[in-house]
Amino acid sequence: MELGRELRAALRGGRQVAVFSGAGISAESGVPTFRDAQKGLWARFDPMELASPEGFERNPKRVWDWYAMRRQQLQQVQPNPGHYALARWERLRPGLKVVTQNVDGLHQRAGNSDVIELHGNISRVRCSLENVIVEQWEERPDEVPRCGQCAAYLRPDVVWFGELLPPEAYARAQEVMATADLVLVVGTSALVQPAAQLPYIALRAGAVVVEVNPEETPFSADATFSVRGPAGVVLPAMVEAIAD
Ligand code: OAD
Repeated sequence: MELGRELRAALRGGRQVAVFSGAGISAESGVPTFRDAQKGLWARFDPMELASPEGFERNPKRVWDWYAMRRQQLQQVQPNPGHYALARWERLRPGLKVVTQNVDGLHQRAGNSDVIELHGNISRVRCSLENVIVEQWEERPDEVPRCGQCAAYLRPDVVWFGELLPPEAYARAQEVMATADLVLVVGTSALVQPAAQLPYIALRAGAVVVEVNPEETPFSADATFSVRGPAGVVLPAMVEAIAD
């Protein structure tokens, strides 16, 4: 894929690089979106029943089983060339940071070492009362596993509808955006607040902000450069441009 001369120069000039990613970067890995995963016996449930504090209160077992199923689906997918390009980018520009809305852990599996997770991680589990991360638990056929300390139910360590973003992760993401000189906004519809504000923090701080998305988004017109194409094609071409 051909990148323009100005864009190549801007990419090469980036020293403090940050990435802001969304579901689109995992599309080529075949990670099912929430909606795609809602197949078969799950199709009849409103997303609020599967991914909200109220849904969990009403039927903890249903919510637990939904996440157990999605955790298993994730074991069958691999990072794609887009994720690997960002890992290579970090080797060329140490200190590169990834801020992601994804819960799939694919950036870490590809090799990025500093990943800020705004919506948690589906492979982690925490106590629903004390919020401490629990490393080991036993799956039971007819019961939601409980915290060994306080006996409250365990729950996935993800942000549900109606919940706030983890404040520390969001504060760190804001800081990363405010201090980067090059930001790549990859595979996000740029619609969900407050995360959608992050690219604007970078723009206001004077960073070059490059959007990578096959579709136009509400952010496209504001980006310094907006590149139309799939992350698995565009990001490898971009990292090649800074490597040569
Ligand atoms: P969305 O599903 O809203 O947007 C995905 C974006 O990826 C769209 O703009 C697509 O055009 C783009 N896209 C599709 N294929 C792509 C590819 N191969 N390469 C690059 N981009 C591609 O996902 P997010 O922006 O992540 O929140 O949505 C943010 C949050 O909304 C999600 O994390 C989720 C949802 O509600 C929670 O679950 C809390």
